[in-house]
Amino acid sequence: MKLNTLTALCAALALASPGAFAQQPIVIKFSHVVAVNTPKGKGAEQFKKLAEERTGGKVKVEVYPNSALFKDGEEMEALQLGSVQMLAPSVSKFGPLGAREFEIFDIPYIFDSYDDLHKVTEGPVGQGLFKKLESKGITGLAYWDNGFKEMSANKPLRKPDDMKGLKFRIQSSKVLGDQMKAFGALPQVMAFSEVYQALQTGVVDGQENTPSNFFTQKMHEVQKYLTMTDHGVIEYAVIVNKKFWDGLPADIRKTLEGAMKDATKFANDIAKKENDDALAAIKASGKTEIVTLTPAEKEAWKKAALAVHKDNESRVGKDTLQLVYKETGFKP
Ligand code: LMR
Repeated sequence: MKLNTLTALCAALALASPGAFAQQPIVIKFSHVVAVNTPKGKGAEQFKKLAEERTGGKVKVEVYPNSALFKDGEEMEALQLGSVQMLAPSVSKFGPLGAREFEIFDIPYIFDSYDDLHKVTEGPVGQGLFKKLESKGITGLAYWDNGFKEMSANKPLRKPDDMKGLKFRIQSSKVLGDQMKAFGALPQVMAFSEVYQALQTGVVDGQENTPSNFFTQKMHEVQKYLTMTDHGVIEYAVIVNKKFWDGLPADIRKTLEGAMKDATKFANDIAKKENDDALAAIKASGKTEIVTLTPAEKEAWKKAALAVHKDNESRVGKDTLQLVYKETGFKP
């Protein structure tokens, strides 16, 4: 067929059905591993809503919760390859990518409150960590909170010694491995989606997580005790494939940045309440007993955790650790 005949045919087709030639929306696949009714799950839905509304449908955000698309351990590579465009992994999962400094967030008892956490995420440390992702083809957009981690097992854990010999699931972080060892437990790295079954079948004896993750993964069905250690945090970095992000039309990228800013505020505003509500739901289930520590008992956990700070100075960066101490007022 001659070129001008082809052009004429296309023009005729476009007139007959304009929809067929309408511009396709830009699709952002946003994959994550937790349930929809969690701080991260709701934050992702909020970003989708704002992004689609504010771009007038030029951008379509497809959210895949609950490891539907990729498990943790697989999703970073998927992002780098461009199979997904956006993720919000816990910052404890950047070690295998070669960005081990993110494990600063895993140092036990370094944060006392959400305010402490925000001093770090919103300050030079948080922004400096994002810079380390650029060479890996990743752009960091925002930090989203989940909350404080508690220890669960089938026995009450009043002191670190009660963890002795128990197998504990952890995320892929050396600092978390060291933390479990400092408390006497045997750490085992495992994908989040596999934790429920591992607890049910006794592959591991316990795990650490926020009440929100504990409840929405139904861990209260398979763990008899949840000790309120508050020893660490689950914090997320919302990240995008750099090439994809840089390649967006400038006006669209700006609109999406605004949507992300507002979704971040939304997610961080609900995080504490989501966890308080989840804790109340765990209690109400009558299946998991909540163990509250006395101040003296809590001190024993903090003392046992100190070795983890020292041993990981070079992993997370000595200067960074000192800066975080300064920002949070932590006294080693
Ligand atoms: C975990 O693996 O325990 C958490 O990071 C899951 C999550 O994304 O909150």
